[in-house]
Amino acid sequence: MKKEITSDIIRQQFLNFFVARGHQLVPSHSLISPDPSVLFTTAGMQPFKPCFLGENCPYSSRVVSCQRCFRTSDIEEVGDISHLTFFEMLGNFSFGDYSRREAIHWALELLTKQYQLRKEKLAFTFFRGDKRSPADKETKSVLLEEGIPAEQIIALGREDNFWGPVGSSGPCGPTMEIHYEVSSEHHFPRSPRDLENRFVEVWNLVFNQYFQDEKGQLTDLPRLGIDTGMGLERLTMILEGKASVFETDLFADFLEMLKKKSGQNFRHFSSSSRIVADHLRGIIFLVADGVRPSNLGRGYILRRIIRRFIEHSENLGLGQNDWASLINWIVKKYQPLYPGLEQKGILVEDILRQEKSRLEKASQRGWKALKKLGKRKLSGEEVFSVYATYGLSPEEVKKAGYTFEEKAFQKALLEHQKASQKGKEKKFGGHGIQDAQKEPEKVKLHTATHLLQAALRKVLGTEVKQAGSDINTERLRFDFTFPRALTAQEIKAVEDWVNKRIQEDLIVQKEDLPLAEAKKDALFLEEAHYPDRVSVYTILDPKTGEIASREICAGPHVKTLSTLGHFQIIQEKSSSAGVRRIKAILQ
Ligand code: SER
Repeated sequence: MKKEITSDIIRQQFLNFFVARGHQLVPSHSLISPDPSVLFTTAGMQPFKPCFLGENCPYSSRVVSCQRCFRTSDIEEVGDISHLTFFEMLGNFSFGDYSRREAIHWALELLTKQYQLRKEKLAFTFFRGDKRSPADKETKSVLLEEGIPAEQIIALGREDNFWGPVGSSGPCGPTMEIHYEVSSEHHFPRSPRDLENRFVEVWNLVFNQYFQDEKGQLTDLPRLGIDTGMGLERLTMILEGKASVFETDLFADFLEMLKKKSGQNFRHFSSSSRIVADHLRGIIFLVADGVRPSNLGRGYILRRIIRRFIEHSENLGLGQNDWASLINWIVKKYQPLYPGLEQKGILVEDILRQEKSRLEKASQRGWKALKKLGKRKLSGEEVFSVYATYGLSPEEVKKAGYTFEEKAFQKALLEHQKASQKGKEKKFGGHGIQDAQKEPEKVKLHTATHLLQAALRKVLGTEVKQAGSDINTERLRFDFTFPRALTAQEIKAVEDWVNKRIQEDLIVQKEDLPLAEAKKDALFLEEAHYPDRVSVYTILDPKTGEIASREICAGPHVKTLSTLGHFQIIQEKSSSAGVRRIKAILQ
């Protein structure tokens, strides 16, 4: 029975199971997120956000879907056994219709009866509670009533067992995660360490009982929403008994084809071949949903994964002539489920060719720039800059006969990666929509306030600390510690610094972090009382990763600085002893 199982059967069984239990089958939404505060659809619940909030919901009160998702927060990890950018998420949802009891009962029934997983190989985690919200005792008692032994039930904190919101605000709540033991060792009780080492997470059941606003405040939702998500690829890996998602029927033949074409006879699928498989699938679905390469937002992310796809397929010795057959394999596999995909194959190939030629042109410019540097031994920074700007790898540079300080190159690369990691995570994670025209004035002035504080610290020194802030639709007002009046030159230097950042069109990125981590490198108010998790807003240059400002703040902020216009200080005076006050406007 298990031998015959395929991803198509698994997907269909999931959908049938919940349709038989009164759920409306809702087709997958596009990868372009329905939620304007995020770029991509990253979870099955996103199209149903209004339903959880009791707003206009065009669906019945219980639904089931298989949602195509695109998440790039883990892009650097693609290449291992289970990380993917594109995946399908199976989920059942209730908008005030059923309780935890039914959701948990059905999840167990589906996994153990339909899919025939052994109950004793499962482990369950639930939210243990903290200062912000209480423990989810009900979930634990339902599990015990369902006959799950206590040693298979683990209480964990907010990081593991609290979900959401997606974007800047929305429904959220405690979760119950179901993990499956993939190793043959078998012992009780289960510990969090076991979960990491011997289990894979299979299914996430979210009990949306709160609404979190832009400031991070939680309020009770009038009715419980249930949002569950199970990755089809991982479930298939478990049910087909495979060691990685790439060995399931979703990928295995594709990777065998790559092996043959590349003439490489590796026993396991190499990391480059996994990256090629994952990224090409993502590229095809993004293009099919209307995304085109560009330097902004979604288009930028598509451009990045195309570049990685090209690099890694070249690592495998594949060229442009191989692309058509690779694309066709994926299109054929998904065509029955996603009608219309077949027509997009040629378009995908065209886009890949255009991007390849862009890359080639850039590398020609890179060689020119290198030539200009002359025949001497180059510094690590010089080679790094050619790499970062034109995409010429240090290996290519070396092959072409140049010598350089390799250690210094690695150092420059590491520094750059460290500096841009946070920004990249957010960008790849899907935030940062461009919406220049619609930012209300107060939001712009709020972002300008962050820039002002950064500028004051640059010009006057880091003894400058925020002492107060007030924003209305006309102007910002900022109080800060400093012992004397500012000179005209200092005021001009502050204005110039802010305006330069605006002209460079830096981007603003938001992260949600544990307070202790945020406090390490972000500005915060000494006297303020913050929640355990806070938002951190970083203003940075997306090209270099250089950070202009980083503050703990509830937001909201603009997404890119070019929307701010021109910054001007209209007043500088004393506020109280040792505290100065600046008023400034945007024109
Ligand atoms: N929204 C939750 C997740 O993405 C459950 O669907 O994991």
